[in-house]
Amino acid sequence: MNPYDNRYSDPDSYRHRHHRSDLMGQKTPVVPTMIGPVPHGGGAGVPPPPSFAGRGGPPPVGGGYPAFERPSSGFSVGRGGGGGGRGFSGGRGSNFHGGDRRNDAGRGRGWNSGSGRGGGGGRGGRFGGGDPRRELDNIALPKQDFGDLVPFEKNLYFENPSIRAMSEHEVVTFRARREITVEGHDVPRPIRIFHEANFPDYCLQVIAKLGFVEPTPIQAQGWPMALKGRDLIGIAETGSGKTLAYLLPAFVHVAAQPRLVHGDGPIVLVLAPTRELAVQIQEEALKFGSKANIRSTCIYGGAPKGPQIRDLQRGVEIVIATPGRLIDMLGAQHVNLRRVTYLVLDEADRMLDMGFEPQIRKIVSQIRPDRQTLYWSATWPREVEALARHFLHNPYKVIIGSQDLKANQSIKQVVEVMMDLEKYKRLIKLLKEVMDGSRILIFMETKKGCDQVTRQLRMDGWAALSIHGDKNQAERDWVLAEFKSGRSPIMTATDVAARGLDVKDIKCVVNYDFPSSLEDYVHRIGRTGRAGARGTALTFFTESNAKFARDLIKILQEAGQIVPPSLSAMTRSAGSFGGNFRSRGRGGFGNRGMISGSNTVPLGAGRPW
Ligand SMILES: Nc1ncnc2c1ncn2[C@@H]1O[C@H](COP(=O)(O)OP(=O)(O)OP(=O)(O)O)[C@@H](O)[C@H]1O
Ligand SMILES: [Mg+2]
Repeated sequence: MNPYDNRYSDPDSYRHRHHRSDLMGQKTPVVPTMIGPVPHGGGAGVPPPPSFAGRGGPPPVGGGYPAFERPSSGFSVGRGGGGGGRGFSGGRGSNFHGGDRRNDAGRGRGWNSGSGRGGGGGRGGRFGGGDPRRELDNIALPKQDFGDLVPFEKNLYFENPSIRAMSEHEVVTFRARREITVEGHDVPRPIRIFHEANFPDYCLQVIAKLGFVEPTPIQAQGWPMALKGRDLIGIAETGSGKTLAYLLPAFVHVAAQPRLVHGDGPIVLVLAPTRELAVQIQEEALKFGSKANIRSTCIYGGAPKGPQIRDLQRGVEIVIATPGRLIDMLGAQHVNLRRVTYLVLDEADRMLDMGFEPQIRKIVSQIRPDRQTLYWSATWPREVEALARHFLHNPYKVIIGSQDLKANQSIKQVVEVMMDLEKYKRLIKLLKEVMDGSRILIFMETKKGCDQVTRQLRMDGWAALSIHGDKNQAERDWVLAEFKSGRSPIMTATDVAARGLDVKDIKCVVNYDFPSSLEDYVHRIGRTGRAGARGTALTFFTESNAKFARDLIKILQEAGQIVPPSLSAMTRSAGSFGGNFRSRGRGGFGNRGMISGSNTVPLGAGRPW
C-alpha cells in the first residue's frame, strides 16, 4: 500500500477533487506523511522532523530579520566555507561577474536569431570564450541513410478480455470520471487495473512493491496507446505518474526487439531538459530494468564523460539524456541512434521551445522516421502543437482535465501582492510559521538572486542550500541529495528545479520571484502536492509581474483558489499578456564548473531551526 496515496484507490476521487482538495480557507497546515528511505542521495532514511521545541526558543522577532539588501560589492563570503568536507570543492567564494547570464532560463530569443538578452556571449570570460550553444551548433552529425530500414515490431498491445468485455457506456463513464479526453484514430480503451495492461510479471511485482493501488488516469489511457506503437501526446497534471506512463511501455518495446549487438546504440531514448530530471528518470528505469536485464544509462552534462562513454560502449537498451551532452557524444561517435525506435520527450513543451528546439531537431535527424515518438508534459501551450506534430506521425493525444493551462488541484495556492523590499521579511515569517523540518522549496528567477537569498538565510541561521545552473554538478547533486533526504529541508532554486523533480513531501513551494511564464508557475508549484499528497504554494507578486495577473487569476479560479483583490487590481493597470511561450528561448546549459559559494556560508548564530 502506498502510504502517501489514497487518491488512486478511489475511482471517484478525480471527479470530486474540488471537494477533496478543500482548498479555500483550509486552517490546519498541510503536513504530508513522511515516508521511509529516500530513493536518491545516499539512501539515508528521513530523519524525524526536529520540532521547534528543540531549537532553543523561537527566533528573534521584530527587527531580527532586516529586509534583504543586495550587497554592493560582489560576494566574498564563503571562502574556505563552512560547508567543508561535503564532497565538493566548495568555498571558493564569489564568482559573480559581469558576464553572468541573467538566469538559468537564458532569456535569449533563441540562439540563432542573435536577438534577446541572454544567449550567446552572455556568460562572461570565465569559460575560455566558448559559447556552449554555438559549440554544440558546430557539431556536425553524420547524415543518416534511412533508405534500407529493417522493419521492427511496435504494436505490442493485446487487449485484455476484461477490457474487450466492457460496454461502450462503461468506457465512456470511466473516461468521464477521470476527465480523460482522447483524440486520434482507432484509440484503444483505457485499462482499469494494472494487470489489464499485460505488462510482464516483473513490472507488476515492482508496482506492488511500490504500493501503488491503481493506475493514474494518464497511465490508464496512456499505456494502451503507447503499447499500440503509435505516436502520442500525453498531457496530465504534475505528479500524476507520467514517467511510468512512458517507461513501462518502453520495457515492453525493448523486449520485443532483437538483442543489441556490438556497436549498437540504444533502442529507447528519453530526452529531458535538466540533468537532475534525467538522473531521476533513470533511477525510475533502474527500479524496473534491473529485474529484466534491461540496461539503462544517463547521459548528461556536468558529470565525467568516461563512465558515460563506457556504458554506451558496453551497450545499453535505454538512454536517458539531456540534449547537449547527447549531441556531444554523437559528435564524438561514442553512440549512434540507428537502433532507436522508441523516442520520448519528457517535458515536451520545454524541449520544443526555442532554447532546445534546434538541438532536438539535430538529435531527431539521427533517428529513423518510422520510430515511435511520445511527448509528455503537464502543460501544453497551443503555440507548441504545430511544431510538435511536425515530428509525429498519426498521433494519439490524451489529455487529463482540460487542455487549458491548469494547476494540480491538490495544491493550495496563495498569492500575495507586495513590494520587492518586503519579500525577505515575508519569507522569514513564513519559515517561522511552517518550518517543522518538512521540505520547503523556494524559487528565484535569477542565479544571483538565488545566491543572495541563500546567503542571507544562512547568515540568519536558516540552513538553506541552493541549486542553479552556475553551480557545478557535484554541488548540485549534493544539494539535491541533502534536500531529498531531509537533512537540509530548505532548498532555493532557479527553474532548473521547476520541472519533473519528484521529491517526496515538499510541504510548501515559495515563488520568491514570479516566474517568466505561467507554464513555469504550474510546474514550479507542482513540486508539491504530488501523487495524491497535498501541498501549499505561496507566490510573491509585485507590480513588475502585473502582465501575468490576468492569466494567473484564471489558474487560481480554475483551481477554486482565493483571488486576492490586490491581484485583481493589477489587471486594470497592465496589459496582461505574458508573451509567446516558445520564444522564451532557453537552452539547457548549466554550469561551467563555477561555485558561487552561497551554500558554504557559515550558518549564523542563533540558528532559528
Ligand atoms: N499508479 C500510481 N499510484 C501511485 N503513485 C504513483 C503511480 N504512478 C506513479 N506514482 C508516483 O507518483 C509520483 C509522481 O510521478 P511522476 O514523477 O511520474 O509525475 P509526473 O506526472 O511526471 O509529474 P511532473 O509533471 O511534475 O513531471 C512518483 O513518486 C511516482 O512514483
Ligand atoms: Mg515528469
